[in-house]
Amino acid sequence: MKVLIVHASRYGSTAEVAEQIGDVLRERGHDVVVWAARETPSPRNYDAVVAGSAIYGGHVLGDLQRYFAKYKDELASKRLALFAVAGNLHADADGHKRQVEEALRPLAPGVPCVARTAFAGVVDLRRMHWPTRLLMRLSKAESGDYRKWNEIRSWASDLSKRLEE
Ligand SMILES: Cc1cc2nc3c(=O)[nH]c(=O)nc-3n(C[C@H](O)[C@H](O)[C@H](O)COP(=O)(O)O)c2cc1C
Repeated sequence: MKVLIVHASRYGSTAEVAEQIGDVLRERGHDVVVWAARETPSPRNYDAVVAGSAIYGGHVLGDLQRYFAKYKDELASKRLALFAVAGNLHADADGHKRQVEEALRPLAPGVPCVARTAFAGVVDLRRMHWPTRLLMRLSKAESGDYRKWNEIRSWASDLSKRLEE
């Protein structure tokens, strides 16, 4: 199956997750390309689109929002999977994971998704404005890379099967 992976990433951690998902799908025999959403690759010639964004201030990045607005009609007819990468899911509380997944919903309202998930990403307190940093410190969050590559690979492996269903 021809799969387009598009991502919106400010500091690179989401882009690396997208590449990892791409590697797994390739290992499973799919024909995969990975692009940044800001390059606006057309989904026209692909069977499936996997789209992912880092979460900032509770929202998907503008690059991916604009991508979905631009290709709304084409995307509605594709097998579609969505993922978010957010900072402190490690401290979760399932509630936060669900909340982050919800942030993906406005991208493609009414379009059925093959899969949708949220992954823990990177926490870098130095990059946050002081009110957020204060809140994070109060919740005992610490800077670090919380990406769980096994979980990401396992999701991608499951996705590979679902895309074929
Ligand atoms: C200024 C700022 C705001 C953030 N806001 C959120 C947020 O609202 N919710 C969340 O779960 N993570 C938040 N994060 C964490 C990012 O989603 C996380 O660092 C992610 O891995 C960044 O991906 P990127 O490296 O692809 O840009 C924020 C990070 C920064 C620096």
